[in-house]
Amino acid sequence: MVEDLRLDSLEGVGPVTTRKLSDAGVHNVMDLVVRGPVEIADITGMEKDTAEKIVNKARQHLVDGGLIANHFTSATEIYKHRQNIGRITTGTNCLDTLFDGGIETQALTEVYGEFGCGKTQFAHTMSVMVQKSKEEGGLEGSVLYIDTENTFRPERIVSIAKAHDMDPEKVLDNIIVARAYNSSHQILILEEAGPVIEENNVKLIVADSAVGLFRAEYLGRGTLSVRQQKLNHFVHLLSRIAETYNCAAIATNQVMASPDVFFGDPTRPIGGNVVAHTSTYRIYFKKSGKKRIARMVDSPHHPEEEVIFALGEAGVIDPEEADKKTTKKAATKKATTKKAKEPKVEATVETPEVEATVETPEVEATVEVESDDFDPVEG
Ligand SMILES: Nc1ncnc2c1ncn2[C@@H]1O[C@H](COP(=O)(O)OP(=O)(O)OP(=O)(O)O)[C@@H](O)[C@H]1O
Ligand SMILES: [Mg+2]
Repeated sequence: MVEDLRLDSLEGVGPVTTRKLSDAGVHNVMDLVVRGPVEIADITGMEKDTAEKIVNKARQHLVDGGLIANHFTSATEIYKHRQNIGRITTGTNCLDTLFDGGIETQALTEVYGEFGCGKTQFAHTMSVMVQKSKEEGGLEGSVLYIDTENTFRPERIVSIAKAHDMDPEKVLDNIIVARAYNSSHQILILEEAGPVIEENNVKLIVADSAVGLFRAEYLGRGTLSVRQQKLNHFVHLLSRIAETYNCAAIATNQVMASPDVFFGDPTRPIGGNVVAHTSTYRIYFKKSGKKRIARMVDSPHHPEEEVIFALGEAGVIDPEEADKKTTKKAATKKATTKKAKEPKVEATVETPEVEATVETPEVEATVEVESDDFDPVEG
């Protein structure tokens, strides 16, 4: 398979062109399709016509190999091709319901919402879940995690893995973290990701946050179009990689409480698709007290619906799990507080006379109020 994807397996691509392409970071047939003719001409200096011919050959090569669908395809074939789409469970019933089984490969899933709503927690959780066996809802694949805000925390991965009975060391080993220092670097990481994805069986690419660096670097109205252009380039690249390499992609995006449009109209087919059935899912995360709400905002085939989830040691969790933990925590706290308080009451009570006046129910009542950290208004 890897043999088949070598650049020189394409008719008319000799050693000179191969070298030119490799020097520009294009290492295999998939990379050619991902980058597209305009970019190939741009980065190698070859004529546009030549680049188009080579990319068309590359695309045909992938179509012949059954790796991507042809441009004119019957619905039956698209249907058949969609059977190759993998799903990664979120490890929760609530979000799996929202995603109809989990997040899909060959698609870009955008998660947006205000700070602290759980985007990074979700990305961490998915980085663990993708490694689960297929029977358990994973894809037995590894992760390419593009961290633009320095918020990747291996400690969180360890807790999430443990909570799902997985070996934390193995789980950490399967996450390749690429720290992006600026927006150009962020794009470069993706441009060079092809061989990494293939060699490591990457089944999930995370960009957390996808937009932060672009936003920070291109401030003001005057730079808006350049920012959008560069951001579009990044997002299209991510989405084409997801389609071509059959992996899932998650892009997070921090927004103020009232969201506006980020990546353009997501229902519009993104230009330069390599597969006809590209789909982008957009999920809005919202804080609701201690819980979180996830809404499927835009999807070609999911209904627009909302579910409640929560955040915990295991990453994203079902709200009932959080309730169970709160009750359990309150109960343990109540027990320990009661134990701790009782000797204190005894110690301060010096004479048996006073001891008789101290009523235990009263102490219990205070303890109960103190230990109840579940806020019914918030929850
Ligand atoms: N170990 C944990 N157990 C329970 N909840 C946790 C744990 N770690 C983090 N959280 C919760 O996750 C929240 C932060 O979520 P997260 O970092 O995913 O936000 P975000 O959407 O990525 O925010 P930003 O836009 O600032 O990056 C915290 O407010 C906290 O409630
Ligand atoms: Mg974050």
